[in-house]
Amino acid sequence: MEEQAKNILQEATLKLEAATSLEEVNEIKVTYLGKKGPISELTSQMRELSVEEKKEFGKALNELKQTLSTSIDAKIKFFEEEKLNTKLASEQIDITLPATKVPVGAPNILEKVIEEVEEVFMSLGYDVVDGPEIEEDKYNFELLNIPLGHPARDAQDTFYIEDERILLRSQTSPVQARTMIAAGGDKPVRMICPGKTYRRDSDDATHSHQFMQIEGLLVDKDIKLSDLKGTFDVIVKKLFGEDIETRFRPSYYQFTEPSVETDITCFACKGKGCSLCKNTGWITVSGAGMVHPNVLRNCGYDPAVWSGFAFGFGAERLAMLKYGINDIRTFYNTDLRESKTFDRRDV
Ligand code: DAH
Repeated sequence: MEEQAKNILQEATLKLEAATSLEEVNEIKVTYLGKKGPISELTSQMRELSVEEKKEFGKALNELKQTLSTSIDAKIKFFEEEKLNTKLASEQIDITLPATKVPVGAPNILEKVIEEVEEVFMSLGYDVVDGPEIEEDKYNFELLNIPLGHPARDAQDTFYIEDERILLRSQTSPVQARTMIAAGGDKPVRMICPGKTYRRDSDDATHSHQFMQIEGLLVDKDIKLSDLKGTFDVIVKKLFGEDIETRFRPSYYQFTEPSVETDITCFACKGKGCSLCKNTGWITVSGAGMVHPNVLRNCGYDPAVWSGFAFGFGAERLAMLKYGINDIRTFYNTDLRESKTFDRRDV
């Protein structure tokens, strides 16, 4: 019987060595270690042996089983690894191949300018606030010292929605009134509000029925025109460069007194005179002024105690100046190529 066991091991080992596939090894496993295999056969023959012999031969058989299954398992592992390696090799990625181009967008240039302005004002402690685009006449005009029937209303060709009371805001100035009323008349206010505005203008290179303004308001005690000038100097230098100067020209707005137009040194010619500044050396960037006492009063602030300044930039105008864009429609025609062009011309 011992001879038989030796032969079995030898035969199986030879077959294993000759095996060329995982399937063959599995077959060998079933043949030799399976229930109907020669080892099982030998095990059942042990019945006829003496106790002593059983012990000895049983041990030998166990060893045989052990040796054989170790070799079989090693062979299985070998073939499985080989299979995996072949698979990995066939699925290798050639990283030198040119990749498919994924089109990427560019930041909207108008948004970019607005964000820059927001950041500068936030660094000075201003809040960025929001207001409704569908507005009441009360906020858009009345509280701002422009009563019904006042000729100043005609300058802003307004889209009315419901009779004369509900409209698409023609300016972001109503957010001044809303902010002051919400603040309650007893604490300082420092805010800017970028947002969409609407007027019944025919679209051309410099007009759009929908455009964006950036409103600003500061209310506190002892605020003077020189504070507005100082604030402007800081803002403009941060936005356009240290060598840019500011100047105020007298103007008229119903909700500010005195009112000014704010000019900055033409950054294209540095004040020498060019086509951008129409040879004046200056570019107008916003309207501004000291908040009119009537407006303060209308919004709950006592003008004997509180004073403030306000300003309004045209956002497209700022972006057009900054990026040399000469048609306001560029911002709204959704042509991605244009955004990308301006992205590269970033200054
Ligand atoms: N709301 C004005 C307009 O649309 C712009 C403006 C001027 C806003 C002076 C202001 C200001 O806050 O003080 O023409």
